[in-house]
Amino acid sequence: MKLANDKGIKGKVIVCTGAAGVLCSSLTEDLLRHGAKVAVLDLRGDVARGFCAKLAKKGLKETLAVEANVLDKESLEKAKAAILKKWRRIDVLVNGAGGNHPKGTCPDEQMTKASKLEDTFFGLTAEGFEFVNKLNLIGTVLPCQVFCREMLKRGGAVLNFCSMAAYQPMTKVAAYGAAKAGIMNFTKFLATHLAPMGVRVNALAPGFFITNQNRFLMLEKDGMTLTARGNKVIAKTPMRKFGQPSDLHGAARFLISDEASFITGVTLPVDGGFVCYSGV
Ligand SMILES: NC(=O)c1ccc[n+]([C@@H]2O[C@H](COP(=O)([O-])OP(=O)(O)OC[C@H]3O[C@@H](n4cnc5c(N)ncnc54)[C@H](O)[C@@H]3O)[C@@H](O)[C@H]2O)c1
Repeated sequence: MKLANDKGIKGKVIVCTGAAGVLCSSLTEDLLRHGAKVAVLDLRGDVARGFCAKLAKKGLKETLAVEANVLDKESLEKAKAAILKKWRRIDVLVNGAGGNHPKGTCPDEQMTKASKLEDTFFGLTAEGFEFVNKLNLIGTVLPCQVFCREMLKRGGAVLNFCSMAAYQPMTKVAAYGAAKAGIMNFTKFLATHLAPMGVRVNALAPGFFITNQNRFLMLEKDGMTLTARGNKVIAKTPMRKFGQPSDLHGAARFLISDEASFITGVTLPVDGGFVCYSGV
């Protein structure tokens, strides 16, 4: 039963892209535990289906596994049709699909006379740069076009995934930083554009969490020892640790819930203080 003053997320139909991934699978489980219904949308349909089966064994059955590509509008439209068939509405979109990729990354932090050209900015290929930009930026724009159409009827909320790299570029990840800065800008654009329609658009900017996209940058091959870069991250994080996926739950739930009814266009860092500390 929805109480008149219930401002949580109970009963909301949430589409979460990249929901089979590390951060958004954890978030999905939390949203379900708080009474939401979640469409687990991912390019890896088999992983999404397996994840939903695992959730069902825990009693979390209000899910729908949907195989779709955030870069393909037709596949998103098909996903929307399946979601509407099951639940008849869409209240929230979480744009979790995204990430960095070695092909959009240059191995050298700074170029020196000793650098091999292929390890610097000059070794980046247009294809690698475009892959990372497309996945993150276009992969956020297209789901907004498809799923927010449904929110025009009764309002809704969008949660995008930004990054620390949006505030200040980071070495190596040129393409990723540009894409995430684009997402921060787009979040403000769409928030303004859709405010009269009752659709709020915000973003989370996670700090450093050890996940598939950055493991190769943060940890040595043994999976335990910090790389030099991993050590630098910890040194610049006032809380002196990496985040855990569960650290995102409260912030995400807040921004998509009606508790945040007058908040739109913000990007909220969840970063152990990384962005506020200059390093000295
Ligand atoms: N891990 C971190 O430290 C960190 C920090 C800041 C921001 N983020 C952002 O958080 C989000 C989630 O990151 P994660 O670490 O959980 O990543 P992840 O790689 O574990 O999950 C990403 C998911 O997206 C799916 N996906 C990839 N391409 C897709 C496509 N074209 N269509 C549909 N689904 C697709 C993948 O199958 C995967 O399940 C990303 O946007 C990432 O950039 C992560």
